[in-house]
Amino acid sequence: MNSRSLEKNIDWHHWMKRWDAQQSYHLPVREERFQIMLSTVETLCSPDCIVLDLACGPGSISQRLLSQLPQSQTIAADYDPVLLKLGKETLGNAQGRLHWLKVDLNDPQWTVQIREVLKSVGRNSLDAVLSSTALHWLTTPRLIDVYREISQLLRPGGLLLNADHMAFNPSLPTFLDLAQQDKDQRKKLLNTHQESEGFQQWWEAIESNWLAIDPSLQALFDEHNNNYDVRDRRYGKALASLHISALADAGFTEVETIWQRFDNRVMLAVMGGADE
Ligand SMILES: C[S@@+](CC[C@H](N)C(=O)[O-])C[C@H]1O[C@@H](n2cnc3c(N)ncnc32)[C@H](O)[C@@H]1O
Repeated sequence: MNSRSLEKNIDWHHWMKRWDAQQSYHLPVREERFQIMLSTVETLCSPDCIVLDLACGPGSISQRLLSQLPQSQTIAADYDPVLLKLGKETLGNAQGRLHWLKVDLNDPQWTVQIREVLKSVGRNSLDAVLSSTALHWLTTPRLIDVYREISQLLRPGGLLLNADHMAFNPSLPTFLDLAQQDKDQRKKLLNTHQESEGFQQWWEAIESNWLAIDPSLQALFDEHNNNYDVRDRRYGKALASLHISALADAGFTEVETIWQRFDNRVMLAVMGGADE
C-alpha cells in the first residue's frame, strides 16, 4: 500500500483537537487571547484582508480567522514538518484562502517566500501579522531582526499582534514575583491534573500513532526532533520593554499591550506611514 492510502487511516481532526486541548491546558487563556487578536483585525482591517499566521503550528489562528472573516485570506508559515502536515491535512486550502508555507524564521530569506505568495494572489503587502506562543523561540538579536523583516512586509497602517510571555523589567521585583507566582501556581495545578495531556505527551502520542499507521512519516519526526536538538537555548528572554523598543525601531509608530495577564500579553504594533 502506498503512503497516501495508509495516511487515510490517520484521524487528522482528532490530532488537531488534541493540539488545541494541550496548548490550552498549558495556557487556559489561549482562546481569549485569540479572540482579542481576531476582533482587533476585524475592527481595523478590511473584510478581504490578507494576514500572516507566523509560526502557525497546525494553523489554529488561521482556522479561527478564516471562519470569523469569511472574505479574508491567510498565509500560515512554520518550519515544523509535522505541524504543517497536520494543518494541511485538517484545514486544506480553504477554497484557495489558506496558503501554507514552510519557512525558518532563523533564515533572513524567509520573507522572499511570503512575497511570492503575496504576488501570486495579486497583493503587494500584508494587512496584519499574527503570532501566538512562538516568537520566544527566537534569540533576542534574531527577534529584533524578525520585527524589522515583518515591518517590510506590512502595508502602512498594517498590524502586528504578538501574543506571548514578555517579561517585566528587573527594576520591578514585585511584578516579577507576581508573574512567577502565577506560573508556579499553574505548574502546581498541572501536576495535580495529570490525566490531561501536556505538550511532551502529545508529541509522543502523535509520533507513535502516525508511525504505526505509516512508517514513512518517520522523516518528518526526525526533522522535528532535530529542530528541537539544535535550537538555541537562550530563547525567550526579551523584556516587554525590549519588544516595544525593537518594534519602534522597526518603524511601528504605535506599540502597546492590549491584553495582559501578568507577563502574558497581546502586544499590538501599528505600522507607520500613510494608510493605503
Ligand atoms: C507552541 S507552538 C505555537 C503554534 C501556534 N501559533 C499556536 O498557538 O497553536 C510554537 C511554534 O513556533 C514554531 N517555530 C519555532 N521556531 C521557529 C522558526 N525558527 N521558524 C518557524 N517556526 C518556528 C514551532 O514550529 C511551533 O509551531
